[in-house]
Amino acid sequence: MSSLQNKKIILGITGSIAAYKAAQLVRLLAKSGAEVQVLMTDAATGFITPLTLSTLSKRPVLTGIHTEEGWNNHVELGLWADALVIAPLTATTLAKLSMGIADNILAAVYLSARCPVFFAPAMDLDMWKHPAVQGHVERLQSFGNHLIPVGYGELASGLTGEGRMAEPEEIVRLLEEFLAKKQDLTGKKILITAGPTYEPIDPVRFVGNRSSGRMGVALANAAARRGASVTLILGPSKLSPTEPSVETIRVETAQQMYDQALRCFPAADAAIMAAAVADYRPAEVADEKIKKAGEEMNIRLVKNPDIAATLGSRKQPGQIIIGFALETNNEADNAREKLLKKNMDCIVLNSLRDAGAGFDVPTNRVMLLFKDNNSLHFELKHKDAVAEDILDAAVRLWNVSSTI
Ligand code: C5P
Repeated sequence: MSSLQNKKIILGITGSIAAYKAAQLVRLLAKSGAEVQVLMTDAATGFITPLTLSTLSKRPVLTGIHTEEGWNNHVELGLWADALVIAPLTATTLAKLSMGIADNILAAVYLSARCPVFFAPAMDLDMWKHPAVQGHVERLQSFGNHLIPVGYGELASGLTGEGRMAEPEEIVRLLEEFLAKKQDLTGKKILITAGPTYEPIDPVRFVGNRSSGRMGVALANAAARRGASVTLILGPSKLSPTEPSVETIRVETAQQMYDQALRCFPAADAAIMAAAVADYRPAEVADEKIKKAGEEMNIRLVKNPDIAATLGSRKQPGQIIIGFALETNNEADNAREKLLKKNMDCIVLNSLRDAGAGFDVPTNRVMLLFKDNNSLHFELKHKDAVAEDILDAAVRLWNVSSTI
């Protein structure tokens, strides 16, 4: 059975000669069992008629934000779909999506969609190569949208080169491949803390650490891709999740992270505590910038609340907590002690001794320790792959707790 069976697909068509291929695309999607809702820009209707597409999709085609009957609810449509496919995508609509200009039904649905978005550009070779177009393609990819690569061949202009829209068969194959990936976290709510915390000394200075937030952001993206509903409480990090469905709450201090984590935890099935929370904060925060004076200066620090330990003490049956430990000596013993003390179900140990592991690097080498004394050792991998290993552990923990 095709992974497109019973999937709700919105197909957005823009004004390119390649729009004629959209008829074949709708046919193939429908044949695979998908429900297809076609949206067209005004320009697209000059290349292929809405009547052709509504006949093939067995649904009225939407061509504007308003019709004579009323307003088309783009927010509802954006939530309805399992995937939004834009094929063909012209340079003009690409630029609108990149800049957030919602002056047609397709762009409005794009901005309100929470589902994965696929886009298949179609244009002449020089247009395709132009830095303006390439910049917009990169921007859409940075939003987590999936580029369906252009093909090489004869173009409508008579020139030969890159810029042809991918063939409908290829688009359907990519969609099927994506939808077949594991969605084993569907229905799960996952709370993730990530990044450093900054503890203010005065209006311009703070006590912080070198955590980049990479591991936590990778976890948030991976969990969202596997179908979880993810809330990411993110300290001051340059990164943001690329999966559009992740709800990100930005915080600065440990206290703010604590408040948000406690608020969100009761509804969560799992909390993954990847943040490098400052253990101490300045006892007093000066209202004005502290002036230079004397040869020495002391800052008195007081303890921050332990977020993981607090959640551990409030954990309900069915909830799991996964923490992190970054140790420099007696690694496994220290990590195991933390696992028990904070009432976690699993702790991810990364050692600073490993080159390529730990803070501010794209890779990590971890060991997972469990309450029952079991442990799993992994090779040095990209943090995206480490995130998948950690989520696999969460799935196993839920399966065990549901059979007890
Ligand atoms: O005790 P330690 O800081 O080494 O423990 C690390 C684990 O505890 C991490 O999962 C970290 O996110 C969490 N933690 C926390 N709140 C703190 C300190 C650590 O949630 N104040």
